[in-house]
Amino acid sequence: MKISVIYGTDTGTTRTVAKTIARKLPKASLRHITDASREDFESSEFLILGSPTYCLGELPDDWTKALPLLSAVDMTAKRVALFGTGDQLNYPDSFVDAMGILYDAVTAHGADVTGPTEAIGYQFNKSEALRNGKFVGLALDLDNQANKTEARIESWIQQII
Ligand SMILES: Cc1cc2nc3c(=O)[nH]c(=O)nc-3n(C[C@H](O)[C@H](O)[C@H](O)COP(=O)(O)O)c2cc1C
Repeated sequence: MKISVIYGTDTGTTRTVAKTIARKLPKASLRHITDASREDFESSEFLILGSPTYCLGELPDDWTKALPLLSAVDMTAKRVALFGTGDQLNYPDSFVDAMGILYDAVTAHGADVTGPTEAIGYQFNKSEALRNGKFVGLALDLDNQANKTEARIESWIQQII
């Protein structure tokens, strides 16, 4: 199965996480979203997409620009897993919202999203990344809970493989 880890980042945190995730998956390829082509999406059976949240609940610009590319890809035969980085202390009303935006974008095109996680161990008020009380993917907060990141990634990887 071809696995691609594709991420956006403004200041590098999500790149670090994406690298860690890719290292744990045999033969996964790693791409920044601005370097990802339609072929990268189409040839992958399992897409792992990651994004930080900016501007009170928005995708960063690199992901926003790539949304038309996502829309052009038939996702019906694909598995997708999502991860998001955010800051629950300073942005408690839009914590990891971008992961919810990506969820809506890929499910609108038929993707089967795997890897939901419990919203336990975080402190926030609102998140667009919640569906039925769970995060749609892996929520990470390296600004405030860096020490929980490795264990969260490890247990999520076990879940999605
Ligand atoms: C101006 C600004 C706005 C932010 N807005 C949010 C937000 O709405 N929700 C959230 O969870 N985190 C927010 N964050 C935190 C970032 O998502 C977080 O620091 C993330 O780890 C950055 O990832 P990157 O280094 O890959 O860009 C914001 C950070 C900044 C500087």
